[in-house]
Amino acid sequence: MEIRYADRVDSIKPSAIRELLKLTQQPGVISFAGGLPAPESFPIEEMKQVSVKVLEEQGASALQYSTTEGYKPLRELIAKRMNNSGIDIKPDQILITNGSQQGLDFSGKLFINEGDVVICESPSYVGALNAFRAYMPKFVEISMDDEGMIMEDLEKALVENPKAKFIYVVPTFQNPTGRTMSIERRKKLVQLATEYKIPIIEDNPYGELNFEDTDIPPIKHFDTEGIVIYLGTFSKTFCPGLRIGWVAASPEIVRKYVLAKQGADLQVNTMTQIELYKFTEMFDFDAHVERVRNIYKSRRDAMLNTMEKEFPSNIKYTHPNGGMFTWVELPEGIDAADILKKSLEYKVAFVPGSSFYPNGGHENNFRLNYGTMTEDLIVEGIKRLGEVLRAL
Ligand SMILES: Cc1ncc(COP(=O)(O)O)c(C=O)c1O
Repeated sequence: MEIRYADRVDSIKPSAIRELLKLTQQPGVISFAGGLPAPESFPIEEMKQVSVKVLEEQGASALQYSTTEGYKPLRELIAKRMNNSGIDIKPDQILITNGSQQGLDFSGKLFINEGDVVICESPSYVGALNAFRAYMPKFVEISMDDEGMIMEDLEKALVENPKAKFIYVVPTFQNPTGRTMSIERRKKLVQLATEYKIPIIEDNPYGELNFEDTDIPPIKHFDTEGIVIYLGTFSKTFCPGLRIGWVAASPEIVRKYVLAKQGADLQVNTMTQIELYKFTEMFDFDAHVERVRNIYKSRRDAMLNTMEKEFPSNIKYTHPNGGMFTWVELPEGIDAADILKKSLEYKVAFVPGSSFYPNGGHENNFRLNYGTMTEDLIVEGIKRLGEVLRAL
């Protein structure tokens, strides 16, 4: 029988790299491939107590339907935390979503008609590219350097694509490169977006995993016209399995996201929202984030220090000040997918970079995640990878 799918289904194909990545899940592989947070950071014992307390105190409401916008005390808490990071936002400008991934999907649903232009960093977060792909846009990639998206290139793209639907950025400790956009460029980005009247989607899952003392104001901080749509999440600071993220935007825009959410799944799991809020009442959430940050900082140090010793000197890589990733650039002409095949023989895995470029190419890059493996395994894995690279 011939099944007649929608045209858009053709645009969401599994990539060859995905197939290769299945091999990375074999037992015994030291994997720097996934983007999984450190399981050691999950507050299991605390969440046991929280669950019992929520069921004892608010059992019926925790198990009942609730509003699409989300649990009010949680939205108030998020607004307070955002205000502390320099963003002027009210609780009713926040919609709780099933992770920020759902915010990405809704962004596609709300903005993209087939053939519309989406502007993004080059490279960009593959999960966002796939979410947007389902709505069949054309991607215009903007090159980056160590200070993030290059603003001259962005301006050129805006002149050539004045009807672009939005500019998607992961400006802080970016997935996949670990890079952070400079403050000057953040201001310029908002200025250009405002001038060309094109919304910015600021996806910021890693901003709180900052290893330095310097504050990095989110792009939304510079937004005076309500042109920035901010996506946040508890996945990296708390636990991804809870699936709690949020969209924060102007009242007009957030109302549209609420409609998308109503149609998709009515609301986020009531009990999980209450539990997350309860955790912050019963325990010190900031102390928890600090603990998580320290875990990633030690792992970043273990990875970069070993790379410095073990990698050949002609191989460049980023030095992230937060988040979970570093980005490696091989000499031109070397395909990271070939290196992955070789390194899998040594039971080490990573993600080849080309899948992070929506229009392909750039085969000589790859992404390493230092978040999931313990320091011992990071050192061992990087030594093995160094051996593969030195043999090139
Ligand atoms: C840049 C970026 N955005 C969004 C997500 C999705 O996160 P979640 O849906 O768990 O909030 C991730 C996950 O790795 C990510 O790296």
